[in-house]
Amino acid sequence: MNIQPYVRPRRLRQSQAMRRMVREVDLHPASLILPVFVREGLAADSVPIESMPGVNQYSLQALPAVVEQCVEAGLGGVMLFGVPEDRDATGTGAIDPDGILNRAIAVARATSRGGIVVQSDLCLDEFTNHGHCGVLSADGEAGGDIRVDNDATLELYGQMAVAQAIAGAEVLGLSGMMDGQVAAVRDALDDAGFTDVVILAYAAKYASAFYGPFRDAVESTLEGDRRTYQMDPPNGREAIREIALDIDEGADIVMVKPAGPYLDVVAAAAELSPVPVWAYQVSGEYAMVEAAAERGWIDRERAIWESLIGIRRAGADAVLTYWALEVAGWLNEGRDL
Ligand code: PBG
Repeated sequence: MNIQPYVRPRRLRQSQAMRRMVREVDLHPASLILPVFVREGLAADSVPIESMPGVNQYSLQALPAVVEQCVEAGLGGVMLFGVPEDRDATGTGAIDPDGILNRAIAVARATSRGGIVVQSDLCLDEFTNHGHCGVLSADGEAGGDIRVDNDATLELYGQMAVAQAIAGAEVLGLSGMMDGQVAAVRDALDDAGFTDVVILAYAAKYASAFYGPFRDAVESTLEGDRRTYQMDPPNGREAIREIALDIDEGADIVMVKPAGPYLDVVAAAAELSPVPVWAYQVSGEYAMVEAAAERGWIDRERAIWESLIGIRRAGADAVLTYWALEVAGWLNEGRDL
């Protein structure tokens, strides 16, 4: 009996050179963005974040060196997060030009000199004493569910956007999941003359357990959870609605977050979006690989590469990842993974 196959897909897998030649997607330093935590009042240059081995909080003085590294590696950019010393009910530190995030933006921008794109997180959660992404409603908690006042928060986001633009941010990452936030921020920016500042909308951001380590990183004071404003994990169709709304409101780039557990959403966004689609490989996705690798249970570098290439294959144009610098290093050395 002749059972010799006529069609042999394995032909294209026979050597690394052959495989490399037929790869459908790839990673590039320019499509990797590094999230960076800048801590106010830090005496040391950096402090390690326990739940994210290899990731640090940096002082303002240490930030230029990090930005230089990103420029040298050819990354797409940095996404800055501020960790303030003091927090209050309305997150005043977010709007204050001397607030840690606004100061970090100015420092990063002065260092980058156009080599990478300076981006900043636009959300109140690091600045409020209750840790929520906006101001709480008068009725605060109804039936155990946290109530964040959507429209009052939009007003503050507009002011925060202008403060960040004045500091020199080139891309604003709207991560608060308030309805109408893209339109509100666009209006505020345009009114202040910042028509060229780019809006990166966290369009489909889920209420995820995978943000756990990040909350250590920003010393989060969160009371309760974010389920009344971030999306419910089972919903994919709703993500399409959120993405379409943000594009309609003027988002220049839309993002899906987290990345790994939501690759179907990334793929759906890539299918429909006329603007670039990004994905955020979040702290928990990072921590899981690092923890397993530490125990010797996984090949760390291959797992990192595979997790990122999967996000690209799903259709993301760029990825925010805590491994951005390390992976860019591999790519720049021309290493085959
Ligand atoms: C909100 C924000 C969060 C993350 C990025 N922006 C936290 C949250 O929504 O609770 C999480 C990022 C990560 O886990 O790596 N400012």
